[in-house]
Amino acid sequence: MTAKIISGTEVAAQIREELKGRVAKLKEKGVTPALAVVLVGEDPASVSYVTAKAKGAEEIGMHEETLRLPADAAEEKVLQTVDKLNKDPKFHGILVQLPLPKHISTDKVISFISPEKDVDGFHPVNVGRALRGEPCPLPCTPHGVQQMLVRSGYDPDGKHVVICGRSNIVGKPLTAILMQKKKGANATITICHTGTKDIGYYARQADILVAAMGVPKAITADMVRDGAVVIDVGVNRVEDKTKEKGFRLVGDVDFDAIKEKAAAITPVPGGVGPMTVTMLLMNTVEAAERKAGLAK
Ligand code: GUN
Repeated sequence: MTAKIISGTEVAAQIREELKGRVAKLKEKGVTPALAVVLVGEDPASVSYVTAKAKGAEEIGMHEETLRLPADAAEEKVLQTVDKLNKDPKFHGILVQLPLPKHISTDKVISFISPEKDVDGFHPVNVGRALRGEPCPLPCTPHGVQQMLVRSGYDPDGKHVVICGRSNIVGKPLTAILMQKKKGANATITICHTGTKDIGYYARQADILVAAMGVPKAITADMVRDGAVVIDVGVNRVEDKTKEKGFRLVGDVDFDAIKEKAAAITPVPGGVGPMTVTMLLMNTVEAAERKAGLAK
């Protein structure tokens, strides 16, 4: 079997077209959805993500501002910046790019963002709402994974989804999203992590296998059942002197071997990555709709 390639770029483009219409409707009401991104320091991967977010926002007609603070900015300065954005009615969404420098408490900063403007869905109040299945901004990467599955014809309903990785950004919220008794969810979930004795044993039982470990080629072909759907959330930079930047991006799965076994697989790049930015835009549009009384 040669796997169908699930293109995140294509699904993202479809959603961004829908968002353009929603932004236009808001603008007719005199509301321009606006996103504030806070970037502390100049970590190259973070700079590249933030650039993609700004470009994506502009393309669908949203307003976006990136506030840049130096890597040695005091925690108090970051909190003050968030406080100002919380109080500024112009902004519907606030995103503080992670990771933050070590001297700054990520938990403190995230908890300081107003839950209504928390378009990352990382605030403890929104984490709780997501687990309870209540309406709230859902974390962008796992929400993007769900949308990509549903819109590509691989509805998780009734399926066994094995998630490798228990991070707060991907593994845990993806569990919360896919376990709900809702359309596009209703799955049986197994979570594997560094404490799991034999990941392959569980992974081979997956109808849908999600790799979110942050380790290049951690998932090998022997860990995948024939006909499974494989979603690769990994974005790892590996040295490659043949590339202009000196590195290339690889995922967490052995793509070349697994594509001969799986029914469908996401590539890296061009898979989950474009979906993450798109869901951030969706969360910001939704926050603006809620404020304008247009939300469902
Ligand atoms: N760094 C890597 N992924 C993310 C994300 O989804 N949100 C934020 N704020 N930072 C990140």
